[in-house]
Amino acid sequence: MAIDQSFLDELTARSDIVDVVSRYVSLKKSGSNYFGLCPFHNEKSPSFSVSQDKQIFHCFGCGVGGGVLSFIMRAEGLEFHDAVSFLAKQNGMTVPESNYDPKAGKRRERLFELMRDTARFYYSELWKPENAKVQQYFARRGLTKKTMNRFGLGFAPDSFFATMDAMHEKGYTKEELLACGLVAKSEKGNLYDKFRNRVMFPIFDLRGNVIAFGGRVMDDSKPKYLNSPETAIFHKSRNLFAIEQARKTKNNYFILAEGYMDVIALHQAGFDSAVASLGTSLTEEQARLLARYTQNIIISYDADNAGQAASQRAIDILKKAGLNVRVLKIPNAKDPDEFIKEKGSDAFRRLIEKSADDIAYKLDIIAAKFDLEEDQDRISFLKESAYMLSFIDSDIEREIYTSRAAAMANISIDSMMVEVKKAIQKREHNLQKQQKREVRAAAQKAQPKDKSLKYDNIISARAEEGILSIIFGDNSLVSYLNGKISPDNFTSPILRAFFIYALELYENGKNITIPAFEGHFKPDALSLLATITSRPIPSMRKKALDDYIYKINECSLKSDDTTTQSDPLLAKAKMKKEKIFGGNRL
Ligand code: CTP
Ligand code: MN
Repeated sequence: MAIDQSFLDELTARSDIVDVVSRYVSLKKSGSNYFGLCPFHNEKSPSFSVSQDKQIFHCFGCGVGGGVLSFIMRAEGLEFHDAVSFLAKQNGMTVPESNYDPKAGKRRERLFELMRDTARFYYSELWKPENAKVQQYFARRGLTKKTMNRFGLGFAPDSFFATMDAMHEKGYTKEELLACGLVAKSEKGNLYDKFRNRVMFPIFDLRGNVIAFGGRVMDDSKPKYLNSPETAIFHKSRNLFAIEQARKTKNNYFILAEGYMDVIALHQAGFDSAVASLGTSLTEEQARLLARYTQNIIISYDADNAGQAASQRAIDILKKAGLNVRVLKIPNAKDPDEFIKEKGSDAFRRLIEKSADDIAYKLDIIAAKFDLEEDQDRISFLKESAYMLSFIDSDIEREIYTSRAAAMANISIDSMMVEVKKAIQKREHNLQKQQKREVRAAAQKAQPKDKSLKYDNIISARAEEGILSIIFGDNSLVSYLNGKISPDNFTSPILRAFFIYALELYENGKNITIPAFEGHFKPDALSLLATITSRPIPSMRKKALDDYIYKINECSLKSDDTTTQSDPLLAKAKMKKEKIFGGNRL
């Protein structure tokens, strides 16, 4: 632990978990807890709970949980130390300098600085007179100098070591260059610049740090784009290109495009809420990130088949994150960049106005597969669209689109309705079957989510969990356990570690609470602890403790039985092992 515990105590005491979580999730009070939609998985009914008394959050759906710092770590995608600084800043507190972990925190800062210096280097290269051809490339693509500066565009020179040398000169090490993915290693073990003779697009995180680069060739050579690899500071599935600029928009919608150039052209044309996923198909994390800033998304992917297939996938992911989705179609052009260049921004604004909502778009896609003059095709259209329509939750909405689909295929509304009803029933039936299967499977498992925390002895572990949940609920009962049970009796290593730490807190006169555990245990372990301590505790606590202790002892007797007595071979092996590893050898 590098950060002073009393500082952490002060910080968590000042940051009420309900206030902090409310900035991300809309919470409603119900009984003594608050409930809302879990920000860490997609759900329609709230299973995310926050307890003001215990200062913890816990999701009954996906199992994550912890105290206020764990929440910030997950919600902001930060490491522990960064989460501490983040929360401290919001409270007007400064993390005591000498206690700030020099390894974790400073190293990340160094990598950010290296990336920023590299972006500056690429920028200065771009504007050198000898690189006029690069400036012309951007000019040919219609970018103004203002736009180029706004996006920090640059140029990586045609050299295997120019970037590396420039950064060495600034004092960065080889290891740091490698960690940022700016250099690669040859088979012989020599380092060389990864980005060469490419125009460079820096990628920023929400705080304005440069976290990655995309580099494009200026001709038709391959690969067209080269992107930074995943690094300690860059996780592409969690970031969106231009999110840092777009979040400042006044628009009540965001435009989701495919490419860097599309986004830049859109911003230049005045559509300042354009973003792009980073050369991958949209992820759920990216959708949730968008949902923090807007309710409405207009998908504006490329016009080709790949772009249309990607639009369909994106619709589903965005809807799952609770967003309203429209899809824009680009006539006679490859992508938004090309369209704007040819037709101008007013024409693009009209495309936005004409964009279809997600269902209308999907109906069009299905209709395009069939010749609706042909009877067989009309039947297929009816079946396929009914299946799609069966996913619409709202009755009114479903009815509107059902009549639209009927009209498209010139089928009576009634028969279309019948088909949709059938599809719904079939889906509900399948869903019920699946739910039953899941309930059965869950009952069998009942294990921590993280494999490394798995229990070997479930019965004993349940009792160990029970002891923990009671002492969390009533710290004074620790003294009741004195002499009755010790951490050594715990079978689960993680539960044992929780118990030891709880005893330590107690002995030091501290409260046993989840916030006191933060920073000492990994996020998955804290989730498990939040799950355990969220369970209601029995009213007859001492009696319950006695029962748990009895169970644990019973289990340990049984397991001794099986290893030493009932299986002589195992017993022999065990003795042998003790001889080899035992005694003073270890
Ligand atoms: N992409 C990538 N690697 C490639 C090709 C594409 O990472 N080899 C990503 C880039 O983020 C790119 C996006 O996919 O911006 C869309 O690709 P494409 O439509 O080919 O690029 P544009 O942004 O339209 O670029 P340009 O107009 O310069 O061709
Ligand atoms: Mn393009």
